[in-house]
Amino acid sequence: MKKIIIAIDGHSSCGKSTMAKDLASKIGYTYIDTGAMYRAVTYYALQHGLFDADGAIRLAELEAALPDIHITFRFNEETRRPDTYLNNEYIEDKIRGMEVSSHVSPIAAVGFVRSALVAQQQEMGLQKGIVMDGRDIGTVVFPDAELKVFVTASAEVRAQRRYDELVAKGQPASYDDILANVVERDRIDSSREVGPLRQADDAILLDNSHLTIPQQNEWLMQQYLRVASEE
Ligand code: DC
Repeated sequence: MKKIIIAIDGHSSCGKSTMAKDLASKIGYTYIDTGAMYRAVTYYALQHGLFDADGAIRLAELEAALPDIHITFRFNEETRRPDTYLNNEYIEDKIRGMEVSSHVSPIAAVGFVRSALVAQQQEMGLQKGIVMDGRDIGTVVFPDAELKVFVTASAEVRAQRRYDELVAKGQPASYDDILANVVERDRIDSSREVGPLRQADDAILLDNSHLTIPQQNEWLMQQYLRVASEE
């Protein structure tokens, strides 16, 4: 089997990370969640007062701070997934909360943030043997990746999945609000000027609206086996 790069892009809340993580652990590849990197920069900006009261980003200060933002991943044996660290501080739980989620889209639209993170992501892929998920992996980060997958599901299905997750955690949730948020995030991710979400011409489309998690994991495994065993 040759060592390859697997790029998984797609809409928010469509289960990309679940399938990427599962494949990486089965085949012994490194899994990299690039959304966590944009979330880490957002967390730093919130901690350092780099958002004005009206939500505008203090761009000059953020750019000057970039060399002080060191994002790393450490594999957690218990959860079997990498945890995100910012300057050696464990931030995995903090970057998943509402505050970071509601500020991350504008940070991910800033050109100098994207170029800095894309350069780090490209370095992580130098040895191959990685599964990376995000929005621009197959188009910008690794345009030559051997396997590219673009994952989607209908907005209604994705909203229902998030609603079920929140209810299972005992958190209050409104399906209508979640659906509106899913649609709005799609709009922002797809319409930004730098690194917009779009399917690479050579990516395989997976609509998992009607697939179970084991079914989609199996589908991805078959794609990997096909590509990695090619001469
Ligand atoms: O996948 P996620 O929800 O954790 O991503 C968080 C945000 O970062 C989301 O607004 C999309 C953005 N993102 C991006 O612009 N490019 C990537 N490669 C990954 C995430």
